[in-house]
Amino acid sequence: MPTSLIILAAGQGTRMQSDLPKVLHELGSAPLFAHALASGRALEPERVVLVAGHGFDDVQRAALAIDNEIAVVEQADQKGTAHAVAQAKAALEGFDGDAMVLYGDTPFIRPETLDAMLAARAAGADVVVLGFEAADPGRYGRLVVEGGALLRIVEFKDATEAERAISLCNSGVVAADASTLFSLIEEVGNANASGEYYLTDIVEIARARGLSAATVSCDEAETLGINTRAELARAEALFQAHKRAEALENGVTLVAPETVYFAQDTWVGRDAVIEPNVVFGPGVTVETGARIRAFSHLEGCHVSRDAQVGPFARLRPGAELAEGAKVGNFVEIKNAEIAEGAKVNHLTYIGDAFVGAGANIGAGTITCNYDGVFKHHTHIGARAFIGSDTMLVAPVQIGDDAMTATGSVVTRDVPDGAMAIGRARLEIKEGLWRRMYEKMKAAKKSGKNRA
Ligand code: UD1
Ligand code: CA
Repeated sequence: MPTSLIILAAGQGTRMQSDLPKVLHELGSAPLFAHALASGRALEPERVVLVAGHGFDDVQRAALAIDNEIAVVEQADQKGTAHAVAQAKAALEGFDGDAMVLYGDTPFIRPETLDAMLAARAAGADVVVLGFEAADPGRYGRLVVEGGALLRIVEFKDATEAERAISLCNSGVVAADASTLFSLIEEVGNANASGEYYLTDIVEIARARGLSAATVSCDEAETLGINTRAELARAEALFQAHKRAEALENGVTLVAPETVYFAQDTWVGRDAVIEPNVVFGPGVTVETGARIRAFSHLEGCHVSRDAQVGPFARLRPGAELAEGAKVGNFVEIKNAEIAEGAKVNHLTYIGDAFVGAGANIGAGTITCNYDGVFKHHTHIGARAFIGSDTMLVAPVQIGDDAMTATGSVVTRDVPDGAMAIGRARLEIKEGLWRRMYEKMKAAKKSGKNRA
């Protein structure tokens, strides 16, 4: 059965105390909604509809950056979850299959749980609601179940004492045939304690039509929703714990797991070693056997087999390290390929560049890639030897097997095999400093130098 996702993400998230819409706050260096989206995408949905409201343009931009086929629809006024789902109707025109409703602020739903819901649908339930046994049911909606069938969902505000005593709560995740869902929603009214159109009302409406409703249960941890910064911080800790465990299971060595921070999309290969205090921003892949040494920060980069990074290195977007490449301490690499076995070991900035196989970049080398307006490219040939403290004024090309002398400011191309010596001539003045120093000391003693 084809499936489509409807992700509700229109709420402002007032309790975040933020100008940023709630679903754009980051969890694992990705916008919050990207987590529910990723779980839902494991179902290989035919269409994905994101319902946005607060900060619509920014939410839309973030969604399209992840997948430009997502239909982002607007719910200008937040009149309730049923009203939110109704906004997805036009985007699902012509779609024949199941719709799965997810919340953008609920990041930990597992794909296996969504699969179980689709299985319940396939087994004949017309409406499937995901529930959980809450340790503290608080203000969640309650699932009223009798003989295995879901009779109705009652919101806390509208519940009787007896209903409030129910511990099986509504997660908000719902699956139903898409056209059935939209037709049920048309009947939802707002005569309730909040004056909102409740998605939860579709259960009673379905049953009145002779349709069936069932529940699937999951662990409460999966339904954790984010409403405050404190909850976001706790969610981040849970997310990191999960990613660390996953890395260890996949055969990655984490010397001190609790000090390593991953992004949602970090991928680390088997037998890679991650030393303490390493931070992964978005878009990083590290292949098998690579070693990321302590206190390094990586984002938007790829580290190939057996390459080494750090300690104290920074790989920025577009850094591409080939097999066996080495990037050492206090080195920053941005938008640059470091070819096989090349070494950039100390105190260096390589940006907008290509460093050829086996090249050796001396300490303190800088690619001067930015003239204040444009960025320019530096090409360093295979086996080139760049002397310490070389300034490579881009655009510039250093040939294969070429050499630059220590301290050179390289403003022209250097052919293959050539040596570039571009520094001020050194002058030695015999005895000059000793004479100056004695004079200065004498002046200090006589108090002449006092301001
Ligand atoms: C909802 C459920 C409740 C359940 C709880 C689980 C209803 C009526 N209630 O309550 O049974 O226990 O979730 O967390 O469905 N949203 C929109 N547009 C709107 C309203 C909401 O996009 O007009 C989005 C919100 O941004 C949020 C999600 O839907 O991501 C849930 O809305 P929220 O207002 O938090 O629902 P609850 O009152 O928590
Ligand atoms: Ca909520």
